[in-house]
Amino acid sequence: MIKRTLIVGNWKMNLSIAQASFLVSKLHKKIAGHRDIEVVLAPHTLALQPVSLQIDRRRFRLAAQNAYYKDEGAYTGEVSFTLLNDIVHYAIIGHSERRVYFNEDLDMIRDKVSACVRNQITPILCVGETSQEWSNGESKQVLHDQIVSALSDLTANEVAGMVIVYEPQWTITTFHGRPAKPDEVKSAVDFIRKQVSELYDDTAAKHLRVLYGGSVDEHSAGSYLRVEGCEGVLVGSASLNYQRFAAIVDSAYRKNRERADSDAKRQD
Ligand code: PGA
Repeated sequence: MIKRTLIVGNWKMNLSIAQASFLVSKLHKKIAGHRDIEVVLAPHTLALQPVSLQIDRRRFRLAAQNAYYKDEGAYTGEVSFTLLNDIVHYAIIGHSERRVYFNEDLDMIRDKVSACVRNQITPILCVGETSQEWSNGESKQVLHDQIVSALSDLTANEVAGMVIVYEPQWTITTFHGRPAKPDEVKSAVDFIRKQVSELYDDTAAKHLRVLYGGSVDEHSAGSYLRVEGCEGVLVGSASLNYQRFAAIVDSAYRKNRERADSDAKRQD
């Protein structure tokens, strides 16, 4: 089974529509269409529509940063997954900024994951512990609870198609974090797959894509992408600069070439 490496740029509440359009046109020139890499952009809701009209869909896919879990109705100020489903392939759910600043709890995140799947959008579920939980040695318990809850309405097949990102709060620029070390990422990625395998089955655990996010930049991306089982990165600040983001995509490309070369050598 060939899984494409996933590089997601989370622009958060940054970039005007004009700036977003400029960034996309620069990226388009810099990023060649590598078939084994999937590049996903997550603009704020207002920029989704114009960016969707601008992108070459063979080169970029779009993700929503958030949506409401009801499909339609009297919910002033909200946008639903139903309304987004012909614009985006993915939606980021459970990001720690939403958990912390908007009080999204486990139930809300579970409902958003279900609504996302119901509307044929692939969830990019972010999980991870706070720095306090990390210092207390509670990381695995937190990951377990977040995964069990968020996936509880899904079938094994639906879980197999989704993306889970290990993005602990203590690594995110917003929370003045430090980047995780590759061996810390390896142990979390393995743990996430083990949880999915125990809750569902080995097939779901194998098919699911697991990523790392948190202070990823053009210098560190390669070291995370070389972690066995880590199939991509979620990038915040460094995705706002087209040269830095393109360099991250390029390191994914180089890593895939290295792997293909060493596989070919092994077969000789
Ligand atoms: P960062 O953000 O790369 O700026 O740390 C990552 C994220 O919040 O998705």
